[in-house]
Amino acid sequence: MHNDVERILFSEEQIKEAVTSLGKRIAEDYKGRRPVFIGILKGSFIFMSDLVRAVGADSELDFMIAKSYGNAAVSSGTVNIIKDIDADISGRDVIVVEDILDTARTLAAVKVHLADKKAASVKICTLLDKVTAVKAADVKADYKCFDVGNEFVVGYGLDYAEKYRGLPYIGVLRREIYER
Ligand code: IMP
Repeated sequence: MHNDVERILFSEEQIKEAVTSLGKRIAEDYKGRRPVFIGILKGSFIFMSDLVRAVGADSELDFMIAKSYGNAAVSSGTVNIIKDIDADISGRDVIVVEDILDTARTLAAVKVHLADKKAASVKICTLLDKVTAVKAADVKADYKCFDVGNEFVVGYGLDYAEKYRGLPYIGVLRREIYER
């Protein structure tokens, strides 16, 4: 285990199992349709790559960058869309893929943005849901792998100040790392 990680919440095996079963569920729900998966960079990139392989061949994907955090462990409150999608999603079923749903500010902004592009439907798929966090917006996960508490977590794509994304597991970051 990495020295900066206090404890492992979900192992590589647990993540694989959860993502595989979620992918199968989505494939079943969207049978006969071709959803567009929109990953919110950068945190979702590993989840997204495992998820689309679990869903199977009949999907398209694109990415957006929406930022609310900077380098701090506490949300800054504003969301900027730094990179938009290229795909034409009008009349399409969209599944937004996020790493973690915290205050939900990011996804609230993304949902409005995608609705403006006339998507037929927009569902939210998140790897983690901080269930105890106060949600600033009325956005709920339609699909999720795991619930987490109000702790700062890293690994499997999630970072703190651009570190720890490559950890194969999801762990709680030691408080002294982001409070110093
Ligand atoms: P929200 O807009 O408050 O829901 O924030 C969502 C974004 O904040 C996520 O996509 C992450 O990039 C970041 N974030 C929130 N909590 C954590 C965490 O515990 N670890 C790493 N990133 C986090």
